[in-house]
Amino acid sequence: MHPNYQKIIKTLVPPIDQHKYILIKDGFETAKLPNEKFDLVFSSPPFFDVEFYSSEKTDSITQYNQGDQWYNNFLLPSIKKANEYLSTDGHLVLYIGEGKTYKYLDKMVNDVNKFMKYNGKFFYYYDDKYFIKRFFVWSKK
Ligand SMILES: C[S@@+](CC[C@H](N)C(=O)[O-])C[C@H]1O[C@@H](n2cnc3c(N)ncnc32)[C@H](O)[C@@H]1O
Repeated sequence: MHPNYQKIIKTLVPPIDQHKYILIKDGFETAKLPNEKFDLVFSSPPFFDVEFYSSEKTDSITQYNQGDQWYNNFLLPSIKKANEYLSTDGHLVLYIGEGKTYKYLDKMVNDVNKFMKYNGKFFYYYDDKYFIKRFFVWSKK
């Protein structure tokens, strides 16, 4: 996917602004991020076993193929990391659904509410597809 992300930037962003975009090819939970704070973290992480993207070792389900292991080593640490990089008024928007064989959304909301302020959910759907997308929103506590 990395070359395609590069192509997206080259296609959609005027050349003068392309330097503002940084692509890091690593798992989010381990990636070394720039030493700065962000107003918004927007993420569409894997939904555990709903889709398999690659067998690369940085792929969350390749590394952690058991539900609790995936949740404890990838999903929750990634959300905690996102929180650390948010500015004081920053928001985290997470587009995420349940896994096929492992359900974690209630637990996720409950756990994240302990260290972030929950702002609720918003929903989005395409008129031609009966498929609702659900986004969770938190801000800094
Ligand atoms: C639900 S899809 C979202 C795709 C995204 N909307 C896009 O257009 O590329 C989840 C994405 O998370 C990526 N992914 C898998 N493991 C990851 C990890 N450890 N850290 C960050 N991203 C990961 C997958 O490769 C996949 O592209």
